[in-house]
Amino acid sequence: QIYARIIATGSALPERVVTNADLEKIVDTSDEWIRTRTGIRQRHIVADGETTGDLAFQAAQNALEAAGVKASELDLIILGTTTPDIIFPSTACLVQHRLGANGCAAFDVNAACSGFVYALGIADKFIRSGQSKKVLVIGAETLTRMVDWTERESCVLFGDGAGAVVLEASSEPGIYATCLHADGGYKHLLYNPVGVSVGFKDEPNHGVRINMAGREVFKVAVKTLDSLVGETLLAADMQESDIDWLIPHQANLRIIEATAKRLKMSMDRVIVTVDKHANTSSGSVPLALDLAVRSGKVQRGQNLLLEAFGGGFTWASALLRY
Ligand code: ACO
Repeated sequence: QIYARIIATGSALPERVVTNADLEKIVDTSDEWIRTRTGIRQRHIVADGETTGDLAFQAAQNALEAAGVKASELDLIILGTTTPDIIFPSTACLVQHRLGANGCAAFDVNAACSGFVYALGIADKFIRSGQSKKVLVIGAETLTRMVDWTERESCVLFGDGAGAVVLEASSEPGIYATCLHADGGYKHLLYNPVGVSVGFKDEPNHGVRINMAGREVFKVAVKTLDSLVGETLLAADMQESDIDWLIPHQANLRIIEATAKRLKMSMDRVIVTVDKHANTSSGSVPLALDLAVRSGKVQRGQNLLLEAFGGGFTWASALLRY
């Protein structure tokens, strides 16, 4: 049996840090409101001219270096993002060229905040089928470019960042199971209203903004992640007690706590970065994973449950041995 095994991780964050106190100066909010509702204390935000592709490239270089793998050895690059540098070529192609991995397959996956876990699920299938041997999977996002800084309901929630993993075909596990889902019927609760077919508007940021019914998103996220966790354990033929670490999408500390409770896990077995990074969408899970690996928390041989929930709605999970 062939497994897809994570051989190394990497990540990248913009240098600029914006605290809740900084946001108090531009919008009617408070550090107290943001912290108690979301767990967020600060976020990293891209500088002028800095792009999703820049963050993705740095995270990828970081992961390749840690893996001791040359870019030319890669046979597939999948990048989860909903904020590509340009509409086409894909950001995966832009990063591929910068890395010097020209010739291998490369494409983006847009599954909003579930983008990285979706990309990991796809990469797993390519490796299991024997099609690919070494795969780079990236989650990279500059969601703050979409934010309307006058809308306090959404602007306090997001940050920018990227993470990456290098996967290798192995006879040792590896990814045990991935579960991917979507329900487009929930579009109206979380969406960006502007694209190529639906026209750019003569208003700030050309009408690009994040429309979100926060309370409704929250409720569906908690319920959906609860059943996703059960489905993933079943698919991997495991129990709650087999999981060493939960590495969840970092949107809201209260959603994370609800999932941990469902898994009967204490919060010291949950990787939390939402306080430092806010919601970096597709970047959040691989960023949290890389920090957990580099800090020595996550060790080789441990079982990790990765999960995400985002616009679409989309939701996805991966249960793997690191
Ligand atoms: N500062 C101060 N007050 C605020 C702010 C703010 N930044 N934002 C909203 N408020 C006010 C509202 O106006 C409202 O006031 P009202 O009651 O007088 O009308 C009140 O605070 C709302 O408070 P709560 O109902 O307590 O808010 P809630 O507990 O629902 O928290 C939040 C809001 C943080 C948005 C939460 O619902 C949430 O996290 N939802 C999920 C968001 C999410 O997970 N998105 C993930 C996907 S993102 C993606 O896929 C791109």
